[in-house]
Amino acid sequence: MKILVLNGSPRNNGIVVSLLKAVSEGVPSGHEVEWVDVNKLVIKYCTGCMACRDKGACVLPEDDAHRVGRKIQDADALIVGTPTYWGNMCAPLKLLFERNVPVFMGESPRGIPEPRQKGKRAVIVTACTTPWPFNFILAESRGAVNAVKEVLNYGGYGVLGTVVMPGTKKSREIPASLKTKARRLGAKLVQG
Ligand SMILES: Cc1cc2nc3c(=O)[nH]c(=O)nc-3n(C[C@H](O)[C@H](O)[C@H](O)COP(=O)(O)O)c2cc1C
Repeated sequence: MKILVLNGSPRNNGIVVSLLKAVSEGVPSGHEVEWVDVNKLVIKYCTGCMACRDKGACVLPEDDAHRVGRKIQDADALIVGTPTYWGNMCAPLKLLFERNVPVFMGESPRGIPEPRQKGKRAVIVTACTTPWPFNFILAESRGAVNAVKEVLNYGGYGVLGTVVMPGTKKSREIPASLKTKARRLGAKLVQG
C-alpha cells in the first residue's frame, strides 16, 4: 500500500515530526511511505472562484497543490501532522487542503457532498503547548484535530485515531506510551 505523510510542521526537530516518524515506523515493511513537508511547497492561495466544483480540478496554473493533490489521490492512506496554531491546523496545510477541495469531495447535481476518497484510512497528529486537560477543554489541540477531521471526513476517510501531545512548553519528552500508540496506529493503517 502507498502511505502519504503530510507534515505541516516547519520544525524538523519538533514534536509533530517526531510523532509522524513514530506513526511511519509502525507501518510494516513492504509498504511505501512517502513524506511531504507541506511548508516547503510553493502554492498560490485559493481565489475562491469555485470553478473546481464543476471542472473537478483547480483551474489555477499548475503548482505544488496540483502535484500533491495527485499524490493524495494515489495514496491508500494518509498520515496528517500539524502543529496546533491558534487552535487550528497550520496555514500551509490548510492552504493545501483549500486548493484541493475536488480531490476530497464532489457534489451531486443537487449540491450534496460526495466523498472522493471513500474507504481510505488516516491518522492525525498534533502537538500544542497548552497542558492537559485545557488543550481539550479550550479547543487547542482539539480545534486542530477537528479542523483536519473536517477535511478527511468529507473525503470519506476513516480516521483510525489521533496522536496528540499537549503541554510541549513544560516538557518536550514524548511519553513512551504515546510513541507506542503512534506505532500501533501506523500498523493499523495497512491491516486488512
Ligand atoms: C503561530 C503559533 C501559534 C500557536 N498556537 C497555539 C495554540 O493555539 N494553542 C497551543 O496550545 N499552542 C499553540 N502554539 C504552540 C505550538 O502548538 C507548540 O509549540 C507545538 O509544540 C508545536 O509543534 P512542534 O513541536 O512540532 O513545532 C502555537 C505556536 C505558534 C508558533
